[in-house]
Formats: sequence, C-alpha cells, structure tokens
Amino acid sequence: MDSLTIRRPDDWHLHLRDGAMLTAVLPESARHFARALVMPNLVPPVVTGAEAAAYAARIRAALPPGAAFTPLMTLYLTGATDPADVAAAHAAGIVTAVKLYPAGATTNSASGVRDFDAVRPVLEAMAQAGVPLCVHGEVTDPAVDIFDREAVFLARVLEPLRRAVPGLRVVLEHVTTVEGLAYVRDGGPGIAATITAHHLAINRNAIFAGGIRPHAYCLPVAKREHHRAALVAAATSGDPRFFLGTDSAPHVDAAKEAACGCAGCFTAPLALPLVAEVFDRAGALDRLEGFVSRHGAAFYGLPPNPGTLSLRRGDPLRLPGRLATGAGPVTLFDPGFPLHWHVV
Ligand code: NCD
Ligand code: ZN
Repeated sequence: MDSLTIRRPDDWHLHLRDGAMLTAVLPESARHFARALVMPNLVPPVVTGAEAAAYAARIRAALPPGAAFTPLMTLYLTGATDPADVAAAHAAGIVTAVKLYPAGATTNSASGVRDFDAVRPVLEAMAQAGVPLCVHGEVTDPAVDIFDREAVFLARVLEPLRRAVPGLRVVLEHVTTVEGLAYVRDGGPGIAATITAHHLAINRNAIFAGGIRPHAYCLPVAKREHHRAALVAAATSGDPRFFLGTDSAPHVDAAKEAACGCAGCFTAPLALPLVAEVFDRAGALDRLEGFVSRHGAAFYGLPPNPGTLSLRRGDPLRLPGRLATGAGPVTLFDPGFPLHWHVV
C-alpha cells in the first residue's frame, strides 16, 4: 500500500502549554489532528470549569487562520475540586474529561491528588454524569523502581479506585507495559488506554544510547523491548480500547538539556507519520484509521471527524531538528529510524 485516506485523526492526550509556547506548538498539532484532548497541567493548573473555558479561548485565539481544530478540555483533579463545578462544566460542553495526576508523578503535578479517598465525591459525581477520568498511572513512592511504577499503580491505586466507584469510566493514559495492557483488556467495558507514538518507537535503551539522551526521556519512562512490542501489538490489533494519545510534551531545550532535565517528548510534528510507519512495519495499515481516528472518539461518545486526511509513502521525511518558539528552541523527538509517510 502506497497511499491511504482516513478520517481526520484525534489526539487523545496533548500538552499545548500556554503563551509563546502554545502559539508555536499548536499549528503542529492542528495541521494533522482535528481534535485533541488538552492536558490541564499548566502552572497554575486548570482546575475549574471557568479556567478551562478561558484556556480553550486562548487556544482558539492562537490557532492559525483557517485551521479546523477543536480543543477538548480537561480539568486537573485536586483535593479542592468541586463535584458540582465538574458536572456543570461537563454538562455545558466546556469539559470533556478530568485528569488525575498522583501528586509528584510528573511535570507540574505538585497540585495532584495525595489522598484518593478525599476525591471520592468528585469521582462519584463523574460516574453519575458520565465524565471519564484520565489517569496518569504511576505510583510516586520513591521506594518503587521507576520501571515498575505503572504496574504497581494498577494494583495499589487504580483497582481499589475503580472498585470504590463502579461506573466510573477510566482512560489509562500513555500505557507503557504488558501489565497495563492486560489490566485494560481484563477491565470490562468502562476502561480504555491511550498509547503514544514515541512508546511505539523506542525502548529504554534509546534513553542511554551512547550517552544520556534527554529528548528520549518522558514519563512514564520507556520500558524494555518486550513492552514496546506489546504496545505495537495492541495498537495494531484493532481492539477499540486502544487509541492514540501522543502525549506530545514540549519543553525548551534549556529545561531538558540540564542536570535535572524535564520529562516529555515533543512529537506533535511527526506523531502521525511515525504511527503510520509503525503500522506499515507491522503490516497493519488497514487498522491505522481505527487507532488514530475512530476508537478514541467512540470511547468518548463523539462521532468520527467528517473530514479526511491522506497519507502517501515516499522518500524519508526531512524534519527540522527543532522548532523555534518565543520561549526558546524545542528539539523534536527522534524515533531513530526513517519515516516514509507524508501527510498530503
Ligand atoms: C508531561 C509534561 O511535560 O507535561 N511529561 C511527560 O513526560 N509525559 C507530563 C505527563 O504527561 O506526564
Ligand atoms: Zn502527558
């Protein structure tokens, strides 16, 4: 197959940031994706419906003229979140989902949840109103090895939480392990998972290839090769519980190339060609549309996008190594192999 036309895709997990960074990175997503679920981990975080509405307006104002892109907003769950505000913002169409960051798990997660029992009333209101909970699935216990934090989270946090609030719809964000995939497969109809483009491409060796590679470092950290292979198998399987959430997470180079570099891979400009390349290598291009354009929308109860997008196989893509932004340069993620799929 040398060309392919699919419904326009959605990105079910995206960091757009704010200000000069938002202005620079938004066109990179809007070029390929019709909608994206926008993460709320700004500083300070997006906690209330009013804050989400204001952030959505800033995103729309930053869109290039003529761009057809809909930001789907999320709220950042904290101990102070008001269940009535969540329900009202969802009913008004301002908010699509709520994001749970365990406090300290990742970039800008200091306001995250410390006491899972304290947020139970919010989770119950969400179950009632059908608002999905998007979960950063890693424990923060420093005694747990960083490569085990997702697997431990499933048993220690996610399973008790789902038992306590039956009916709550959950997305296990950026799943990276065999254990996470199995948890979703065994979890019944109310659970799904996003898979990133970069976790389909690299294993943990990429972070240490010939030296320390800050632009391959994200959270959850990439795992061993057999986990990556299992992610590719899940993404290309046609199983509707798995869909693309790029977790494109731009940081200026100065913040990543540092003694304590930030977590996050900036993949927006190449995410779609990269996923197409992975599906091509797996002989699964016929299932690409499901993974990038249909499964996520179905889980969120939205119709697929009306427009289409065409891809063509050609010479290796020549991408710039970095994107200039008003906040400083941002290096693009390097998958380590050529990408042949061009968006027409
Ligand atoms: C994200 C970021 O930079 O906001 N970083 C990352 O490594 N994925 C936060 C997150 O989604 O964990
Ligand atoms: Zn993220």
